[in-house]
Amino acid sequence: CGIIGCAGRGGETLDTLMHGLSKLEYRGYDSAGVALSNEELSVRRKAGTLDALRSSLSSQTLLDGDDSTVEGDGLHDNPVGIGHTRWSTHGPPTDDNAHPHRDCTGRVAVIHNGIIENYQELRDELAAEGHEFHSDTDTEVVPHLIETALDTGMAPEEAVRSAVSRLEGAYAICAVIAGVDRVFAARNDSPLVLGISEEAYFLASDVPAFREFTDQVVYLDDGEFAVINKNGWRVTDVDGTVVEKSINTIEWDPEETGKSGYDHYMLKEIHEQPRALRQCLQGRVDELGGEVLLDELGALDPDTVQFVACGTSYHAALYGAQLFRSIGIPAQAFIASEYATSVPPIENDLVIGVTQSGETADTLSALREARHRGAKTLAVTNVVGSTAARECDEALYIRAGPEIGVAATKTFASQLITLSLLTLHLNGSEDDRDVIAGLRDLPSNVQAILDDTNAREIAEEYHDSDAYFFIGRGLHHPVALEGALKFKEISYEHAEGFPAGELKHGPLALVTENTPVFAVVTGDGEQARKTIGNVKEVEARDAPVIAVTDGASDVERYADHVLEIPESTPRTAALLANVQLQLVSYHAAALLDRPIDKPRNLAKSVTVE
Ligand code: G6P
Repeated sequence: CGIIGCAGRGGETLDTLMHGLSKLEYRGYDSAGVALSNEELSVRRKAGTLDALRSSLSSQTLLDGDDSTVEGDGLHDNPVGIGHTRWSTHGPPTDDNAHPHRDCTGRVAVIHNGIIENYQELRDELAAEGHEFHSDTDTEVVPHLIETALDTGMAPEEAVRSAVSRLEGAYAICAVIAGVDRVFAARNDSPLVLGISEEAYFLASDVPAFREFTDQVVYLDDGEFAVINKNGWRVTDVDGTVVEKSINTIEWDPEETGKSGYDHYMLKEIHEQPRALRQCLQGRVDELGGEVLLDELGALDPDTVQFVACGTSYHAALYGAQLFRSIGIPAQAFIASEYATSVPPIENDLVIGVTQSGETADTLSALREARHRGAKTLAVTNVVGSTAARECDEALYIRAGPEIGVAATKTFASQLITLSLLTLHLNGSEDDRDVIAGLRDLPSNVQAILDDTNAREIAEEYHDSDAYFFIGRGLHHPVALEGALKFKEISYEHAEGFPAGELKHGPLALVTENTPVFAVVTGDGEQARKTIGNVKEVEARDAPVIAVTDGASDVERYADHVLEIPESTPRTAALLANVQLQLVSYHAAALLDRPIDKPRNLAKSVTVE
């Protein structure tokens, strides 16, 4: 979910909240809602995307229309406000389950991202005291707890702290109270950042929500509370003692979060890859191309490496683990949510969390488990100040710039290149010169693909097939998995990725003339030869074959189509092949008229386990 709160925006408060929510929609879009507070509360919430909420609001006030959830008498001169865009965890996406949630009296409105684990117990207790609930959500207990605390005579800020101290689980919460000119917030295990401009103050799950107004931010830590009003901000602990916080400056521009004329963020972000890769390499590869310098890292000399990650980042982790093994360091990639049950004992292990957002709950939990077992932890992330970056012993940034499309594209490319730099940094061998040269050529090689690709024609020919398979060996195996994940995420078509050699051990039963197989084959070595063998098995079953290749082997002879990539080293070939597959997925989804940037049921940053 995405949350935002603001104070000091006067008559612009509602617009500011809606703008912020549009920037946070990538975090969830099942339903959305806003609350404004001055003498009274005005609340509006709707199932569906932000557009459904937007069209239920007039451009003038929150009160036009006859929505039964509207209360109070609308906009005042300088209200404070909160807004929420939801990714459902408890209860389906309905108007009643949409945030903000209120107490019995309609005095308190609360938005929440996370999961309150003891909500059933709290709900039973509150219900026994006579509180009535109107949603299936875990969140609804919070306004009722605040109401109870207010009824005992506590001041608003104290009442919020007291209510939140009863909660177990993960939360970033914002609350407003009628007649109180403040937004109250609390954080535990869910992201929350405070924004400071000259006239207004903000609270949000992520910086893009308010980046247009300020580049000055304070990252809240677990267990902290924040209060903003039109005059300022304060961070405290649970007892109300002020916590000194440092103010950070955001280094990217607000324009970076716009679509720049592309139809979709995803396409824009695919096209941003050359720049993202240049940014990632900048200052890290010496001018002569002989050495990789990662000054931000302390000394690392691991005996073994474990990766933890989810989704696309897990595919980057699989790639990273292969690179580590290639320099003689045993390494293994774990799906983060499986790590705690399968983790072997750790002795001088380095555990690397690969996470674009730095906020994925499964990955954070695995990293905490690793630390608990005594491992050193490293976050490979895109978001400076993210929880992973702050909690790990070391952080290495992939420098891709903000990514808004739910389907990860440029961040995957930047993760691969960052992991490549990391292994080169640790290896420090003369033999690496060619590899480093290959990395330096990557941005222009990606550009060459973007300038001249037949991905759209391939998508046109095959976008109504029964299923899609992706195969690759070695470093191309993670690419096959990622190709399939991208395809299914945004096209809603069935797609699976396999190690090329595994196809014959089961999946081949699914292969027909109506199941295109994308085969990644580069170079002309042993691996290429074997994958071509697998391609022939597929071809013999009449399946259309699309070879993603640099032309070094004769795979073209057995393929119906070719997606070409420039000649390069094996590790960069994987990244280049992936760009072609991203484009095929994008065009197939566009032809199928899917909501590419916001695929159903998915969210970019999943902050619950
Ligand atoms: C979600 C997104 C995926 C992403 C995964 C991990 O499931 O939908 O696209 O790969 O989270 O995200 P992270 O921010 O940890 O890389």
